[in-house]
Amino acid sequence: MARVVVVGSINMDLVTLAPRFAGPGETVLGERFLTVPGGKGANQAVAAARLGAEVTLIGALGDDTFGEQLREGLAREGIALDYVSRIDDCGSGTASITVAGGENEIIVVPAANARVTPAQVEAATDAIARADAVLVQMEIPLESVEATLRLGHRLGVPVILNPAPAQKLPTEWLKLARYVTPNQHELAILLGADAQQDFRALMRQAPGPVVLTRGGEGAWYREDGEPTHQSGFAVDVVDTTGAGDTFNGALAVFLHEGLPQAVRKACAAAALSVTRLGAQGGMPTRVELDAWLAGRP
Ligand code: RIB
Ligand code: NA
Repeated sequence: MARVVVVGSINMDLVTLAPRFAGPGETVLGERFLTVPGGKGANQAVAAARLGAEVTLIGALGDDTFGEQLREGLAREGIALDYVSRIDDCGSGTASITVAGGENEIIVVPAANARVTPAQVEAATDAIARADAVLVQMEIPLESVEATLRLGHRLGVPVILNPAPAQKLPTEWLKLARYVTPNQHELAILLGADAQQDFRALMRQAPGPVVLTRGGEGAWYREDGEPTHQSGFAVDVVDTTGAGDTFNGALAVFLHEGLPQAVRKACAAAALSVTRLGAQGGMPTRVELDAWLAGRP
């Protein structure tokens, strides 16, 4: 069983289904509203846990009802929450999401997520030292992302840096991370590079393996040498929210099978996740994933 540590955000997703997105000053009548657990860190933790990994999450919740609901949900997924702090007089993170035509628009209010500290990451040194892989995204303070990268590097534990939401980062961080996993949009912002040259530019700057996710079209990855393409899996798309998180969670779980196999399984897990509403809805269990992949090339 793979041991995975996730350092990242925990949100309550406030999801509105609408026939289309509203423009500035406009009101659109929606079809449905639901509150479902989300946040990139929590989503990646749930993806990995459903696929059978032993998962520890490092993060922060507020002292509100959302915080209690989110903690209970994560505990039900079997995720260790010893390093998830509860911040007094602070709300839990939220994401206001509109889903229209299978696409989404998201506004995140970090709240408690902004209080994840480097000291909290350091306090989890033992758990990180024992991990097969560490996942970190960028919905928490960048100093805590950096602390995770440095600690993983020092301990020789592979850190997967999922640079989402997109931001320009110090080039050095691409060297501290063992794997870097942007999508196309994040890649352009990460490097400030011209779109065509993006992946090659990333390959030059990140000495280790890089994986570029391409939504329904699959992924490009480069371990060493030339890049390889993994095709996407065709599915009926309901909601793409959390697809990237499912990909990253799965990647961490299957890394020990080698990068080509891990990328293929991560693409499949992400494909399954978009067939259901909500970031964590549709994330497959290991049995579901194996069964679904069995008949596929
Ligand atoms: O990656 C998807 C996630 O981004 C959502 O669950 C939302 O909470 C935002 O953090
Ligand atoms: Na989903």
